[in-house]
Amino acid sequence: MIPEVVVLADPASAAAAAAERVAAICARTVAARGACAVALSGGDTPKPLYARLAEEPYRREVPWDRLEVFWGDERCVPPDDARSNFHMAHETLLAKVSIPAEHIHRMPADTVDHEAAARAYAEMLRARLPATADGWPRFDLILLGIGANAHVASLFPRTAALRERNRAVVAELVEDAAMWRMTLTVPVLTRAAAILFLGTGASKAEAVRAGLEGPADGYDVPAALIRPVDGRVTWILDAAAASRLTGRAGRV
Ligand code: 6PG
Repeated sequence: MIPEVVVLADPASAAAAAAERVAAICARTVAARGACAVALSGGDTPKPLYARLAEEPYRREVPWDRLEVFWGDERCVPPDDARSNFHMAHETLLAKVSIPAEHIHRMPADTVDHEAAARAYAEMLRARLPATADGWPRFDLILLGIGANAHVASLFPRTAALRERNRAVVAELVEDAAMWRMTLTVPVLTRAAAILFLGTGASKAEAVRAGLEGPADGYDVPAALIRPVDGRVTWILDAAAASRLTGRAGRV
C-alpha cells in the first residue's frame, strides 16, 4: 500500500497532527474490538506528541483504560535511567493518564540475560495480542521515529537484528548506539494494522528520503524495510524533515 505522507510546518504542528491520528486510531480500534495494542517509540521526537496526548481533550477522550501499551524498542538500561524509553513515556504520558498498571508492558531490557528477556517479551506478545493468519502478534498501532542513519526502533543499518525473520523480539549490542538494545523485528513491525512514523528536523531529511523513496531491499536503510504487509503506514513530518522528498513515494 502506498504510504500516506503528511507534511506540517513545524515540529509542534506535526506532534498535534500525530496526536489526532493516535487518538482516532485508538477510539476506532477500541470501538471495534474492545482494546487497542499500541507500541511506543523512544528518543526525543515523540516527547511533544506524548505531552499533547496527556492534555485535554485527549486525556479525557482517549479510552486509556482499554489500551495495552508496549514498546517498539528499548535501551538496555534500568527503567529509571534517563535514557530509558519506558522512563520517557512514563514521565511525559503514562503517569498522567488512567492506564491500568497491568496494561503497561515495558521491555525488560535491563535483565542481565538480554536474549532470555527478548524471548520472554515475544512470548508475552503472543499471549496478549491477536495473531495474524501467519502466526505473528498483530499490533493495532506502532509508533516509530527515524534516526539520521535511517534506523527505526532499534533496527540499525547492517545489523543482525535487521535480518531476523523468525523471532518477534531480539536483543543486540549496537555499535552505532554503543549499547545493547532490544527491538521488535521487521516481521512484527510490518504486520501492524497501522504504523505511524513521526520525523522532525533537517537532520532527518536524508533518512526520510531514503526510507520513503529509496529501494525497499536496502539493509543500509532500515526505514525502507517497513513496508506494511496489509496495514496502513503514515509518515507525519515537519517541513524540514520532508525537505528532500520528491513526492514519488506517496501523497505529499
Ligand atoms: C530509540 C528509538 C529510536 C528513535 C530514533 C530517533 O530508542 O532511540 O526508539 O528508533 O526513534 O533514534 O530518535 P530521536 O527522536 O531522538 O531523534
